[in-house]
Amino acid sequence: MIRTEQTGPILTITLDNPPVNALGAALRSGLAKAIARAADDISVGAIIVTGSGKLFSAGADISEFGKPLADPQLPDVLAAIEACPKPVIAAINGTALGGGLEVALACHYRVALASAKLGLPEVKLGILPGAGGTQRLPRLVGVEAALKMIVSGDPVSVAKALASGLVDKVVENAADLLTAAAGFADSPARPTGERAVSGDAAAADAFAAANPRLFKGFTAPTACVEAVKAAATLPLTEGMAVERRLFLELVAGDQSKALRHAFFAERAAAKVDDLPKDTVKRDIARVGIIGAGTMGGGIAMNFLSAGLPVTMVETNAEALERGAALIRSNYEATAAKGRLTTDQVEAAMALLTPTLEFGAVGECDLVIEAVYENMDVKKQVFGRLDAVAKPGAILASNTSYLDVDAIAACTSRPEDVLGMHFFSPANVMKLVEVVRGAKTAPDVLATVMALGQKVGKVPVVAGVCYGFIGNRMLIPRQDNALALVMEGASPEQVDKVHTDFGMPMGPFQMTDLAGVDIGWHRDETRIDNLKDALCAQGRWGQKTKAGFYDYDANRKRSTSPVVAALIEEFREREGITPRAISDEEIVARTLYTMVNEGALILEEGIAQRSSDIDVVWLYGYGWPRWTGGPMFWGEREGFAKIVAGLEHYTDRMPESFSIAPLLRSPQPEPVA
Ligand code: CAA
Repeated sequence: MIRTEQTGPILTITLDNPPVNALGAALRSGLAKAIARAADDISVGAIIVTGSGKLFSAGADISEFGKPLADPQLPDVLAAIEACPKPVIAAINGTALGGGLEVALACHYRVALASAKLGLPEVKLGILPGAGGTQRLPRLVGVEAALKMIVSGDPVSVAKALASGLVDKVVENAADLLTAAAGFADSPARPTGERAVSGDAAAADAFAAANPRLFKGFTAPTACVEAVKAAATLPLTEGMAVERRLFLELVAGDQSKALRHAFFAERAAAKVDDLPKDTVKRDIARVGIIGAGTMGGGIAMNFLSAGLPVTMVETNAEALERGAALIRSNYEATAAKGRLTTDQVEAAMALLTPTLEFGAVGECDLVIEAVYENMDVKKQVFGRLDAVAKPGAILASNTSYLDVDAIAACTSRPEDVLGMHFFSPANVMKLVEVVRGAKTAPDVLATVMALGQKVGKVPVVAGVCYGFIGNRMLIPRQDNALALVMEGASPEQVDKVHTDFGMPMGPFQMTDLAGVDIGWHRDETRIDNLKDALCAQGRWGQKTKAGFYDYDANRKRSTSPVVAALIEEFREREGITPRAISDEEIVARTLYTMVNEGALILEEGIAQRSSDIDVVWLYGYGWPRWTGGPMFWGEREGFAKIVAGLEHYTDRMPESFSIAPLLRSPQPEPVA
């Protein structure tokens, strides 16, 4: 856990707790003992604290939260470091996050390797830096810069850290780090806590007022501001007490539990339980994309950005040109925001080979089909792919609903076929549902899961069924939303329940964005439901400036009198007398039904684990992260309450509706 080595008067303490040097109980205890011994040992003149491996430390051991924390507590260990009469120098050998950075903040000097990143990501776990981060960081960099790091949770580069005063020296080569740190051995001990804070409480309020987006929905950011205000106005010990109180409140709160769940859920999703440990992955050196539409282009960008060459195939020259131009303009828009250099844009574009030659995908190791969502079209594409793809190439379909086994059956190599369902916009949304067909080979699945992670996606395994995990859960939500409107609710009321819950948009706003005409039979004379009526009138959603809502030239949404009249007309036609619909009913029929569908998905083995369903909704649909995802939220809400709600409204649901037996089975105690 802790290694110590003395060279002359310098004692080097190395944090050694793979994989990320998390500051669990044993490491805290070892560090405290090493510091105490060094302070007492007259042969030690200065102390260097560094980390082994690639990281300095990823901070507190998150798996310890929610249980009573064994002594010593990190704030006490850090107080001892700060109070040490001998100079303590942090030699930051790699990324330092959370409690890891707080260790460095408590040291008297900080020397960092140029490639390291420094951050306080606690807010992303629903807490605040609880080991003096909110008190010491403002003393080094001032209120505003500290709040930026603490409230965003985003790490800064070492270059930035040097400019702000967070680190004292930067070293380019790892081999020089300890020598550079030793350069401070003769400097005086310099407690961070004794420094004055630049900035005041008003600066903290100004930061909050200027950054409302960082605060929306989450409780921790407001607590971060309060703690930093304490740093600006109180001596260290009193500020530390404020930080402690806020930390303990937050860590016990529902949001932090949900956000910790999301952290571990994301990492669990990357694991496929039944894959043999020794599965050897296939090499993917070039990716082929069939289709240069919005989806194909977005998918291509993931690989180009990660440095993988892409061959993009289209059937007509104009569409191909348009697709390639869209990729370029997306990159240029990012560059205009300062998030890419022109060189990076050109490097990515240089990896793209647009072509009209279908056979060109013959040199690709993975080919992703992103054509029109129609089984016949997909089958045809896979038949052709089978003829041209090289042996061992992985063939993936970006279908969002269709039967991957039926698609695989059009090839002579169903073991090489799977689904890779990207979410729109595919260069932005992190989720990829990796659809495992009945015959998909283990190494094909393992390769695609690893590749997904490599290009910065969050891949989640799903089995074959209509809509897989995410879109299948949309079905009961959308059906009930429409039925609720027929029975008396307005689209606005239904949507508001969802946006108040924290969803980025409600069911009708989403339909308007995706296109009301998706799945429409395109026969204007056949009007079976409200959606058909909208489609027949050309109200196809945002793209036609009219859907369930009206849209102006800037896509600003407003209530549509036309739709209100249509709804009236439909109710009359169906003999429905509208009634007042409560928000509780909307919750039961559009959110509880999703939990129910998730439970069915789990029972059928379509998802490996409940937390995978949460990951799908968190990363594919913007489900509010502070609730942990639909299944975690459902567990917290209580399955008994959900079953009761669903039973209450069963007679208003379609005949096919059934309550998942899983929801009726005894529920384990919620995670602490
Ligand atoms: N505690 C416990 N386990 C952790 C951990 C932590 N702080 N950080 C990472 N891990 C675990 C992961 O769960 C994962 O475990 P499995 O292999 O069993 O799935 C393993 O370490 C490797 O992590 P990643 O897969 O995430 O590896 P990576 O290389 O992609 O990323 C990382 C490394 C950037 C450090 C990333 O893991 C990360 O962001 N960790 C969380 C950092 C964080 O939030 N720190 C703040 C902790 S709270 C705190 O410190 C409070 C305080 O004030 C005292």
